[in-house]
Amino acid sequence: MVRIINAKQIDGQWLELSLQGGRVDAVQTSAAPPPVNPESVPMTSVGDFAALAPNTLVDAGGYTLVPAAIDVHVHSRDPGLTHKEDWQTLARAAWHGGVIAVADMPNTNPPTMTRESVLVKAERARASGIEFSFFLGVGLGNIHQISGLLVDPELPLCGLKVFYGRTTGELLYDDLETLARVLPEHGGKVVVFHSEDQCMIDCNHQQYARRLHEKDNAAFAVHSAIRSSEAAHLSTRTILEWARTVYKRPIHIAHVSTALEVELVAEARARGVQVTCEVAPHHLLFSTADYERLGPLVKMNPPLRSLAEVEALNRLVGQGAVDIFATDHAPHLLSEKYSDVAHSPSGVPGVELFYQLLIAVSRRTGLPLAQAVRMATEAPAALLGWRHKGRLAPGYDADLVLLSDEEHTVQSTDVVSKCGWTPYAGWHLPSDVVATWNVGRQVYCREKSGHGVG
Ligand code: DOR
Ligand code: ZN
Repeated sequence: MVRIINAKQIDGQWLELSLQGGRVDAVQTSAAPPPVNPESVPMTSVGDFAALAPNTLVDAGGYTLVPAAIDVHVHSRDPGLTHKEDWQTLARAAWHGGVIAVADMPNTNPPTMTRESVLVKAERARASGIEFSFFLGVGLGNIHQISGLLVDPELPLCGLKVFYGRTTGELLYDDLETLARVLPEHGGKVVVFHSEDQCMIDCNHQQYARRLHEKDNAAFAVHSAIRSSEAAHLSTRTILEWARTVYKRPIHIAHVSTALEVELVAEARARGVQVTCEVAPHHLLFSTADYERLGPLVKMNPPLRSLAEVEALNRLVGQGAVDIFATDHAPHLLSEKYSDVAHSPSGVPGVELFYQLLIAVSRRTGLPLAQAVRMATEAPAALLGWRHKGRLAPGYDADLVLLSDEEHTVQSTDVVSKCGWTPYAGWHLPSDVVATWNVGRQVYCREKSGHGVG
């Protein structure tokens, strides 16, 4: 048994944690910090808990101790697009952000739509040491195989991803009637939607066609006009109505970018629909006003919204109306991004600043930190059906993050992700990740390498 003392809990209480192997054995809280104990060893220097002598006393140094995060929305790019990211660089970036597990989206190359493609991706992911699960992609080519694949016990699949609107890669599926017909009971696995209406986008696209070959930053605002808020509203309305009247099982709306979608989700839930939704940091921290400065660097799908819409979405997050915080980590190289509006790929990296951005969002929205942390830990674990993860409680995995509340300035030279840039360069974030453990194994320590030690 190893005992961690002198750790702050997010509510300001003091925390004492006993670990047995890679599991939490007991948790105690108290109002006052413990007396200094000369026998104790500093927590950042301990490495793996399993390697410590029994009864070692570990001092968390007064840092805040939280459960490590689970990011339910990343794009690993591996296999097939490994010039942008690979499982090794993704794992290092995730640990740097206090994330120990990721759910990866299917728009890799080949897309994750067959048994073979899942197995190939799993082998690559396993070698990185990060915990993972995949969303299966759906299209005309595999629609009649998906239910068999989702229940296959050998495949690490946590659910199905439906690109109801087209984005990076060519995945698109909008035949909801067929989808409901082919999906039998499949172990409660969730169906996740990228919710933007493709017909409305195509129609808007024609209207703005002559501006798509422009390259200056301000021209990127047309991306938000083409993939309009109305396109997201229409799609989310359609999907929720289908879930209520036809599908009747759990669904999840990825990266909501408008307040109205959050309201639609709440209304549907009140009418019995089993639905959760997620928000990405960029939709809370940037707006269309940022195109002027950042242009292609803030082109993503769904796109940025007006300042008024961003404020409305922040208000709802502050009221606890959104279930999950996920980054939609979607790295592309700068050389790819710096192109005209039509050709610059959509997507921004984010996972390596996961906890740092979560805390910035908590400050900005007024959402209590404890609730914000649950959006990144307990709620994702529930979505994926992971019973031993996402809490500091007896029997749960020792997935731990130490946070400091010193302000931290983001530098592009510190970027861990292979893409080598971040839209947050120069930002002063209110907190930083000091170290991360996954099932008792230290996978990141700022003091040691700054780039993970796993
Ligand atoms: O901006 C985005 N980039 N949105 C997506 O849905 C896909 C992602 C990517 O894979 O690049
Ligand atoms: Zn995505």
